[in-house]
Amino acid sequence: MSFRTIGRLAVVGVLSAGLACAGAEQEAGEEAGAGVAVPDTTAAALWAHLEGAGYAANWTLWPDKGQLYQGTEPHGMLLTTYLNELALDALTNKAGTMPAGAIVVKENYMPDSALAAVTVMYKAAVGYNPEHNDWFFLKRLADGTVEASGRVAGCQGCHAGVAANDYLFTGSLSQ
Ligand code: HEC
Repeated sequence: MSFRTIGRLAVVGVLSAGLACAGAEQEAGEEAGAGVAVPDTTAAALWAHLEGAGYAANWTLWPDKGQLYQGTEPHGMLLTTYLNELALDALTNKAGTMPAGAIVVKENYMPDSALAAVTVMYKAAVGYNPEHNDWFFLKRLADGTVEASGRVAGCQGCHAGVAANDYLFTGSLSQ
């Protein structure tokens, strides 16, 4: 084998390694983008996604917040907050903002620990809600009634107070 051939083989090796990487990135992008893993921006689709994922059993509690931690107005006395993997990664890596596909689910409990409502923030695709960082909001009462969903003025108006932290109150997304 001549030196030239070895050189060319090495180049082919580097190229195919590069292609493999690009493939992995694309898969991850599809999951976070328009792929099957990401729900439509409707209350029904988002709730079906949360139920299918079994969020309460399979997702991670917001770091350093246990179950039924003390909340403030307007969300009620006791809160339990879950993050899907994309949201957890962004939070723990101090990514500054949440990526499309990130979901934060907050359960709101009464003082007697009865579930009152579930509120959700779902980072939809770029362009969904450009004035409010593309967040989709959902509030679903314990009996299943959808009280609000979509680009909800009340939710986004208050959460905009922490726009610099991508609308999230509970913990910092940056260093
Ligand atoms: C008056 C201000 C206000 C309004 C209105 C409001 N929130 Fe919040 N939200 C908060 C605060 C403050 C927290 C932090 C938790 C706590 O201390 O209660 C929070 C936390 C959350 C969280 C956990 C992620 C985070 O930001 O820390 C979600 C999800 C959420 N709210 C969804 C909603 C939805 C959905 C609505 C509308 C139906 C809504 N919120 C309306 C103030 C508000």
